[in-house]
Amino acid sequence: MVAGALAQSQAPVYCPDVAPILQTHCLACHRPGEIGPMALTSYAEARRSSVAIAAAVARRAMPPWFANPAVGHWANDPSLSTAEIHTLAAWAAAGAPAGRGGCQPSAQSKSIWNIAPPQAVITMPGAVSLPARGEVAYTYEIVPTGWRQDRWVQMAEARPSARSHVHHAVIYVRPPGSSWLKGAPVGVPFTAATLGVSRASLWTDADILLVYAPGSAPEAWTSNGGKTRGKLIPAGSDLVFQMHYTTDGHAAVDQTQLGLVFNPTPPDEQVLTLQLTNDHFVIPPGVSDFRLEAHGSLPGGATLLGFFPHMHLRGKRFEYNLIAADGKPRPLLDVRWNFFWQRSYLLAQPLPLKAGTVLQAVAWYDNSRANPHNPDPDVAVHWGDQTTDEMMVGFFDVAVARGLDKWKYFAERHPAQ
Ligand code: HEC
Repeated sequence: MVAGALAQSQAPVYCPDVAPILQTHCLACHRPGEIGPMALTSYAEARRSSVAIAAAVARRAMPPWFANPAVGHWANDPSLSTAEIHTLAAWAAAGAPAGRGGCQPSAQSKSIWNIAPPQAVITMPGAVSLPARGEVAYTYEIVPTGWRQDRWVQMAEARPSARSHVHHAVIYVRPPGSSWLKGAPVGVPFTAATLGVSRASLWTDADILLVYAPGSAPEAWTSNGGKTRGKLIPAGSDLVFQMHYTTDGHAAVDQTQLGLVFNPTPPDEQVLTLQLTNDHFVIPPGVSDFRLEAHGSLPGGATLLGFFPHMHLRGKRFEYNLIAADGKPRPLLDVRWNFFWQRSYLLAQPLPLKAGTVLQAVAWYDNSRANPHNPDPDVAVHWGDQTTDEMMVGFFDVAVARGLDKWKYFAERHPAQ
């Protein structure tokens, strides 16, 4: 009895021991309107889930994170320390005691945004109606900003309203004078078919503002190493939402919102999202370890900021490597692929790279029956938009001098390369 009472009194309590851990590591998803299956914002909610919490964190299933801990350090790694895992376990084992009270979730957790309160919220003007079944072609919507000045974006977050239907979204910046999607309607959803053009003709090299996929976290190109950074939206640009929707047996309507936080002054460096892509492949049926590779060299000096790998349901692993002068790959990121958790991995220490540096992306696929997500292990798989096709895209962000947009940066390429 006495020993039990003693253990109880020494056990961690919700306030002040547990609440701050949940606040920092869990509430981004476990609050009303977010993707977690239950809210953990109050003591009562946390107590109700205390045993499941202890179990999920002990397995390191929560918070979700897929990078091999032996490779790289990540600014956005949400993983708990061993001490925090012990605190949650001991709290649950002691019956989830309340403690002092006064641990209300902070104001930030009450906002719907995971970034700082946005200075601009851009909503797709036309809602997109999604059927209950079948494939939905890539759906585009052009949204004019109407901004008379260049704006520099420091943080960006996309919030689909029909979240479970969004396979991915890419938000592009279409500067004035661009010929991309010329003649397409503004402020209403359209597809290649409704425009009467081929899908290939909608291809673009426009700057990417943001990539959103299931489980992805918002982007923040904040200052680091004394340098401020941001992505440029030139005056008078349109934003183009490229939405890839999936169906799940229930009709839905989506109207994705984009929240933006601007740099207070033009940043020192400009962030560009580049990609290593391999779209020429056939993954044979039944093969469990199919390897694909893509590489490219940097046309100019740049600081590497982070990665965003993208594959579909047969994806298994994704690596980024730096190829040293001796040809040896130096690992930068190694992730276990989970289609339902597509995330960015932001380097804790941005990496300055010289012109000519070779970056390599390597992807592995499991097209066998052993892959529980495999839609069909009996077919050969090619590049394609739909989830049942495959992709191999290694997005990565670099910072370059302000004023170097993607085209100027690539025009820098040394003639000898
Ligand atoms: C990036 C979003 C995200 C974060 C951060 C996150 N969760 Fe989750 N959590 C989810 C989603 C989505 C699910 C349901 C799907 C799944 O299990 O993968 C889930 C499931 C769970 C479950 C299982 C519920 C059940 O019993 O089936 C528990 C428990 C849980 N989370 C606890 C936590 C705790 C504790 C933290 C912080 C230490 C945390 N989660 C952080 C998104 C998140």
